[in-house]
Amino acid sequence: MPLKWHMSTNISSRVDSSARAVDPTVVHSSIAKVKQTWQTRGPFAAAVAILETFVRPLFRLRRRLLFMVLLDHPRTSSEWNVSEHLLIIGANNQKDLSPRVTAFLSTVDQQDDLRGVKDGNILFLVTNGIECLHRGYIRLIDPGASDAKSVFFGGFENAPEIRSCETAPQARGKGLYRRVLNEQLRYLQALGHDRAVLYVMAENVASIKGATAAGFKLTRTLHDWIVFNLLVFQRVREAGSARWRLFLRSR
Ligand SMILES: CC(C)(COP(=O)(O)OP(=O)(O)OC[C@H]1O[C@@H](n2cnc3c(N)ncnc32)[C@H](O)[C@@H]1OP(=O)(O)O)[C@@H](O)C(=O)NCCC(=O)NCCS
Repeated sequence: MPLKWHMSTNISSRVDSSARAVDPTVVHSSIAKVKQTWQTRGPFAAAVAILETFVRPLFRLRRRLLFMVLLDHPRTSSEWNVSEHLLIIGANNQKDLSPRVTAFLSTVDQQDDLRGVKDGNILFLVTNGIECLHRGYIRLIDPGASDAKSVFFGGFENAPEIRSCETAPQARGKGLYRRVLNEQLRYLQALGHDRAVLYVMAENVASIKGATAAGFKLTRTLHDWIVFNLLVFQRVREAGSARWRLFLRSR
């Protein structure tokens, strides 16, 4: 039976959606956000959300956190319930993915990650035989120009990265993220890597908790003031000190 996918098709807390400011899906998601804000937090909060929507292309603040883990001690394997199945997909077995799963993984946000599997990235999937419960990638190939310049600069460009992780809403809070992270780190250890990195939006509490539980430590805080979606004033906090960088945004 083909696997069903019940995940959202967009990791909203991670994806830098303003990069697609003219994309109709962004317009729809902005309207949905305003509606939801009105319903949950009232008209004043909705007015602020509308204002933010218009100001965003001119100026916005993006706060990201870079975490690193040292792979310097043995890790015990994660425990799985009888209904949870971990699949590790690389270039050699990517063809075994069903067309339906491939279609799901080919959404706009995920295309590059999926394409990277044939070049050496690794996809971790957890299924219960019917539904896919969790997805996450290990990026072993070079980071894209944008991430290399704005996140991994100064020494982390070559570290393997855990990225694009998502747990299906109905499977959240059961430690799937933490357990898959642990398996991804064991996998990297077996390949001989001595560290791994990941980055998240600073407001993504669940991701920060899961990463910390898997052993990641906060290494770098990045606050980007982005002007006209082009010029980035970046404050970098790292190893107890802060510094500023100025650069043009890569697409
Ligand atoms: C982030 C995400 C992958 C976590 O998945 P998960 O399988 O539910 O994570 P875990 O069950 O391992 O939980 C991790 C921790 O976050 C906590 N947590 C889960 N959801 C939370 C929420 N909405 N708010 C605050 N904490 C939350 C859990 O209690 C757990 O903390 P604990 O170990 O102290 O109990 C999931 O919330 C998700 O898919 N979010 C949308 C996509 C995303 O943000 N991906 C991360 C991009 S890198």
